[in-house]
Amino acid sequence: MQHFCAAMENKKIIITIDGWSSCGKSTLAKQLAKELGYVYIDSGAMYRAITLYFLRNHIDWTDTAEVNTALENIHIDFEYNPKSQQSEIILNGENVEYVIRDLVIAEKVSDVAAIKEVRSFAVAQQQKMGEKKGVVMDGRDIGTTVFPTAELKIFMTADIAVRVERRFKEMYEKNPNITLEEVKTNLEMRDYIDSHREVSPLRKADDAIEIDNTHLTMEEQLKIALDLVNK
Ligand code: CDP
Repeated sequence: MQHFCAAMENKKIIITIDGWSSCGKSTLAKQLAKELGYVYIDSGAMYRAITLYFLRNHIDWTDTAEVNTALENIHIDFEYNPKSQQSEIILNGENVEYVIRDLVIAEKVSDVAAIKEVRSFAVAQQQKMGEKKGVVMDGRDIGTTVFPTAELKIFMTADIAVRVERRFKEMYEKNPNITLEEVKTNLEMRDYIDSHREVSPLRKADDAIEIDNTHLTMEEQLKIALDLVNK
């Protein structure tokens, strides 16, 4: 019995966290990864990095051949930064963790993420990163497409006003010219495109457990999620 329990404790799982824009997915994913000693993977950062590459290189993403050639030249890695104590995204050798959070990227990322070829490219890498389990990955299609057999699937929601306020605070620190209205328009636009696209639209997996964190503190949401892990 003792051996059985020890084996269960050591059994690493895959945790997926999907949900609407800026509803605290990455905060919970980072908390869980830290608590469990798992790897956190920010799948949205990959779509943002691809968008950055497309914009910088003037890629016409309505042209499939051009997209395919561009993807061949994109290498994405995640690297732990001891300073920020976080894993950060590296695009072709350059740390782009901070640039990809700009509104310029947020305005285009959902269009880029709707492209079939872009999704196949990103999903293949995400699946590879989860091969050894022990990962928490957040995004839009992680529980439905990337890891449909994940042991724990969470779907997060929060009131739009709360989501806008949280994202505005984050972005205002870097860019005091940003307005609440711009942030709100962007979140609503992304939610619409992400949930209406043809390939892997954002939706709650049938077996996902919903957490609405509108009125939850960070500690409360972590406790709920850890209880789910232990179950
Ligand atoms: O942090 P936030 O919720 O604002 O977004 P993100 O996770 O950084 O994702 C940025 C965008 O990437 C989303 O709006 C989606 O268009 C796209 N995305 C996706 O299509 N599939 C994923 N698994 C993750 C992100």
